[in-house]
Amino acid sequence: MKTRISFILNNDLIDIEINPATVLLDFIRNERLKGTKEGCKEGDCGACTVLSGELKNDTVSYRSVNSCLLPVGNISGKHIVTIEGLNQDGVLLNPLQKAFVDEGATQCGFCTPGFIISLTGYFLNLANR
Ligand code: FES
Repeated sequence: MKTRISFILNNDLIDIEINPATVLLDFIRNERLKGTKEGCKEGDCGACTVLSGELKNDTVSYRSVNSCLLPVGNISGKHIVTIEGLNQDGVLLNPLQKAFVDEGATQCGFCTPGFIISLTGYFLNLANR
């Protein structure tokens, strides 16, 4: 059974009829945003991490979530940010990404988008404290 769900994916408003049990990771990757990776698909590795933003007290509060475990039925009205959403306005690398490159912190690179997203969530929450 499909239901209508609206949310913001990076800078795009998404308004779709979809099975609410579809996991967000599958939706994101089917939308051609392949930067979010599928690793374990059971919530352990973090390769699929995205930010989920929710309006609270006139401020959007973001938290890191495993998109492989998150049904799209739970993201209605939220702002989902993938690794592609961090480099808007033609910026090639943000300071966090540049630090990863400069320090050789990418390892094989498969999990790096999850690291970057998780750290971005950490710094966003630090700024809101
Ligand atoms: S794919 Fe490993 S935590 Fe989601």
